[in-house]
Amino acid sequence: MTIETPILHLPRHADSLLDAEWLFLHDHLPPDDWFNLDYAYKTSTWLTMHSRIQQRQGGLQKTSNAYQDNRLDWANYKSQTLRQLSSHIDHLHGHHSIEDGQYFPRFVKNYPRLAAGFAILDNDHQTLNAALHDLQQSGRRLFRATLEDQQLAETLHQQLSQVGILLSRHLSDEEDLVIPVLGLS
Ligand SMILES: [Fe+2]
Ligand SMILES: [Fe+2]
Repeated sequence: MTIETPILHLPRHADSLLDAEWLFLHDHLPPDDWFNLDYAYKTSTWLTMHSRIQQRQGGLQKTSNAYQDNRLDWANYKSQTLRQLSSHIDHLHGHHSIEDGQYFPRFVKNYPRLAAGFAILDNDHQTLNAALHDLQQSGRRLFRATLEDQQLAETLHQQLSQVGILLSRHLSDEEDLVIPVLGLS
């Protein structure tokens, strides 16, 4: 008689806060299959939303890097940052509130074993929202700045980097929990 040992799935992000035991649904829907035709119609909306968030975050960081490296002048840095920043922040706040208010409670109800994992994601949203608040305050200062302010640009650079690190880990952890739930529903 052979005894099957359960496969232990690991979170995809190196700094993940998830416990591997919460990835039991990856037995049935591992990350390699998330875009498989049998599942993509249920999983791709969420994954596409996340990749758009990453694109907007990447665009802001690219603009900030260009200014820091003297490849972009102040006027263009300011206008490009302001143009990208408010839509990024508004979109993220909307995204978090729908997840916290509608999706996560439903997922926890259907999979109570994942409650502690979703509590981590919920806490991430609070951390992210606080970081976004600081970013928005700096954005307002940038809007009002009439003269070049390198210190403000440096503050924005650090804040964007912090949000980028938080987002990268959070989106990956969220997908590890949510995508199999959606795909297998
Ligand atoms: Fe989220
Ligand atoms: Fe999300």
